[in-house]
Amino acid sequence: MKLAVIADIHGNHLALEAVLDDIAKQGVDVTLNLGDCFSGPLEAGKVADMLIPLNLSTVRGNHDRALIDRPREAMSDWEVPSIAQLSEAHLEWIRTLPFEMRMNGVYCCHATPQDDNTYWTETVSPSGSFQLNPLRDIERIAEGISEPLILCGHTHIARAVHLSDGRMIVNPGSVGCPGYDYDVPRYHKVEVGHPFASYAIVEAMARGWQAQFRQVRYDHHEAARIARERSFHDWAAVLGGGWLPED
Ligand SMILES: [Fe+2]
Repeated sequence: MKLAVIADIHGNHLALEAVLDDIAKQGVDVTLNLGDCFSGPLEAGKVADMLIPLNLSTVRGNHDRALIDRPREAMSDWEVPSIAQLSEAHLEWIRTLPFEMRMNGVYCCHATPQDDNTYWTETVSPSGSFQLNPLRDIERIAEGISEPLILCGHTHIARAVHLSDGRMIVNPGSVGCPGYDYDVPRYHKVEVGHPFASYAIVEAMARGWQAQFRQVRYDHHEAARIARERSFHDWAAVLGGGWLPED
């Protein structure tokens, strides 16, 4: 079994197009999508038109939920520009998405099995640095999941974590958003350090699941230009180079 795993497209249709082209060359059996498909200042409508007909098995991310669980006036600045581009049919598709999926020894969720807006393999230190969580904390969150391969997104950082009982957590990184800042639980930045479109190929080998992280080149300068034109300057910086503006 060979899987392509995508997550956190965040409305970046140019990145999604490049990743889908790359996946087409990899000979995968199935492509799984871990959510946060649309939110951001880019091209949510084009992503919806490209993504929904593919009928990928998809879990709902916190930003997908935020498009359907609150009135427009309560939406954040990531949802406002995206919902303006989404049709009722697009929103109806979001409403069908499950919180989690299990199939053939693979467990999928957006962030953690308990919550769609909590970091799993990383944590924010008291001084605000974003860092690897201790193994015992990662394993506590994984309690009750029997599948040997666990897939999650949300942080936008590509990572594999091997649990002491042999299970593996794989986060493919973000297709369309290589960094952001956030003030919960305290201000922190997450930056990938490159502007490319990330996803993962995960393959069942004789010794177990093996992950290969791919960073696909695409016209990220055009994505940055769109963000800049819409006055999303943090997005423009991180799409342009993989780093947020310096403080
Ligand atoms: Fe997320």
